[in-house]
Parts: sequence; structure tokens; C-alpha cells
Amino acid sequence: MRILLGITGGIAAYKAANLIRLLKEAGHDVTVLPTKNALNFIGETTLEALSGKNIDLDMYHDVADVRHVELGQQADLILVAPATASFLARLAGGVADDLLLNAILASRAPIVVAPAMHTEMWQNSATQDNVSTLQARGIRVMEPAVGRLTGSDSGPGRMPEPEEIVEFALSGLPLQGKRVLITAGGTREPIDTVRFIGNASTGRMGIELAKAARDLGATVTLIAANVETAIPAGVETIRVSSVDELELAMDRDCDLIVMAAAVSDFKVAKPSTEKLKRGHALTLELTPTKDLIAGYVANHKVVSVAFALSDSNGEKLVEIATQKLWDKGVDFIVGNSVIALGSDSNAIEFISRDGSESATGSKAELSRWILERVIPKLS
Ligand SMILES: Cc1cc2nc3c(=O)[nH]c(=O)nc-3n(C[C@H](O)[C@H](O)[C@H](O)COP(=O)(O)O)c2cc1C
Repeated sequence: MRILLGITGGIAAYKAANLIRLLKEAGHDVTVLPTKNALNFIGETTLEALSGKNIDLDMYHDVADVRHVELGQQADLILVAPATASFLARLAGGVADDLLLNAILASRAPIVVAPAMHTEMWQNSATQDNVSTLQARGIRVMEPAVGRLTGSDSGPGRMPEPEEIVEFALSGLPLQGKRVLITAGGTREPIDTVRFIGNASTGRMGIELAKAARDLGATVTLIAANVETAIPAGVETIRVSSVDELELAMDRDCDLIVMAAAVSDFKVAKPSTEKLKRGHALTLELTPTKDLIAGYVANHKVVSVAFALSDSNGEKLVEIATQKLWDKGVDFIVGNSVIALGSDSNAIEFISRDGSESATGSKAELSRWILERVIPKLS
């Protein structure tokens, strides 16, 4: 998920360093945007080194890129920690007087703020009114912790620990606490020690589904069959090659399984244990492989999505995919045409027991689209 992390000028700003580390370790893409005052409490060098991105707070630099709009629109989530009393007031009043507030006002992303300040500032009715205004607008305000403040005094107003902030910020996500198992790529059935029967699947659709599920808060396990595309961070990955290895790797529980891998329908009855010599005719005996997803749903209480690849499209594809829905006993089928193989985009027929819907777009967009339709079935 692309997270815009705002840091404002409170004493707890130093804790933001740990926050960046935790978010990045969880696989998120973090863009850090401190206020000018925050840089009195934590160094720009630290923030740039930890986030891996340069910081430029001047609204009027790189004007052609309209950076405040770009920053706001590119964020999937905005988190401001620590949030000062001044920041809460300016956000409640819609005052766009720095890059952070401009980016926030230019964004439709969900916003989470973690206020931190002295107890008197927190309990001041101006601050409390601002908090109520923000909450009424759907902004999630994390209750400050009670404890030691800047000096020797203590009370409510302390910034919660970074681990708690990460948990709070990501807990509003629809797949939080759900285990999602995704298969991707194409299996290879050995003919001999070097040759195999394979298919043209690259695994891109499964990888995009894994990213989308992770960004919606799921704990994702990706079973990658001969996938050469980069594996997304924050996703547990099991590498497999053949149908048998895939079946073994699928021996685990989950809440949602998405079978996006192109699984061979046949395997060689007796693969050679040594490299076959050229120069003579060869007949291979093929045996059918198991329908892994049908077997999985028969033995697990799980929400399931399978993919159906066909040379057909339109009504014929809907007909084929609907038949597979019933044959396999899955909840949803994503029907797609062979032209999607290796492409960044796809045109799909999404089949549920209630009917079908068509969609086109990039594989990333379609992954989110598919999961949004599956999520209600999980709750
Ligand atoms: C040592 C020191 C610590 C401060 N700590 C806080 C704090 O924890 N919370 C807060 O709301 N303001 C705090 N302030 C005041 C803010 O820095 C001040 O309101 C500033 O204008 C906030 O700017 P910003 O919201 O644009 O980052 C502190 C000021 C100083 C000098």
C-alpha cells in the first residue's frame, strides 16, 4: 500500500523513525512528509535514509508536477503521527498552508491521525472540538496514550508506540486478520531431467492479487509456480514447480483461496530419470492431473476463487466459466481469455452463483475489483 506519512512538530516526532521502519518492513511504500516544524525534532537526513526518498517541502519547487496533488492522489492511506494540536486545528479548518495539508486536502485516501501533546493541550476544548470535527468527517483519530510527557509530568497526551499506531492505522482494512492463499504462475511437468511440459502463464495476475490482498490488510501466502516477476514485499512466498509440489504447498488452511495459477491438466506418466537422447521418435504417455481447487474446497471451509482460461470470450466464456463454477464447487470464477497471458491488462468475466459481471483494466486494477466483490462473502 502507498502510505503518505505526515510528521508534525511535536516532541514525539523522533518515534516516527521507527514507524517508517515498521511500515516498510510490512511491505508498504512509504512517502514521508514532515512539516517544517517537525524538522526541529527529527532530521531530514534520517527521514530520507529510512524512507529511501528525498524530501522537498517547498510547495513551489517542481511546480510542473503539481506535487501536492500528486502526493495526495497517489496515497492509499494517509497517516499523521505525531499530530500536533496546531495540525489538528488547521486540518479541521481546512487551512492549506504547507505541503502536508495541501496534499491531504487534495486526497480521497482514508486518513488516520495520532495526536500527541501535553495533557492540557489535549484536553483543551479547542483541541477536543477539532477532534470531534475531524471524526465527524470520517478521519480516524487515535486516542493518545497516558504516560510520561516531554518533561517530568505525565498524563494523557503521549504518542502511542509505533507498533500500536501501525496496528490501529491498518486495522480499518477489510482483510485485516484474514489469511489469503494465492497461487500464481504456471506448473511444469517433467519429461526428463531438463525438459518439461509447461504453459505461458507469467504469474502477473496472481502477483497483483497478492499485492492487492496485502494492501487490504490480509496476511498473504503466495504459492509461486515458476514465477519470474518480482515477488511483492510483505508476502510469504512458497516456490513450487510441478502440480505435485503445488498440491503439497496448498496443504494449509486459509480464509480465502484464489487459484490464479495455470495448472497443467496432464503430467507425464513416467518421466525419465536421465536426459533423453535426441535422434529417435518418442511417445509420451500423459495422465490427467487432479483438479486441485476442487479438492481443496471439498476439504476446507473457505471462500474460493478459481480462474478459467479459455480461447473464447463474451457469452461463450461466461458459459464455460459458469459450468466450471458448479463443477469445481467454488464461490467465484474469473473467466479470462488466453490473450491475457503475459499482458499487463485483462478482460474478465466474473462469475458468482448470482450471475456474471464483465470488467477490463490493468491486472492491478482488476485484482482490487475482484477482491472488493469477494470481501462481503468473507464476513
Ligand atoms: C520542545 C517542544 C515540544 C513541543 N511538543 C509538542 C507536542 O508534543 N505537541 C504539540 O501539539 N505541539 C508541540 N510543540 C509545539 C509545536 O511545535 C507548535 O505548535 C508548532 O507550530 C507545530 O507545527 P506543525 O503542526 O506545523 O508541525 C512543541 C514545541 C516545542 C518547542
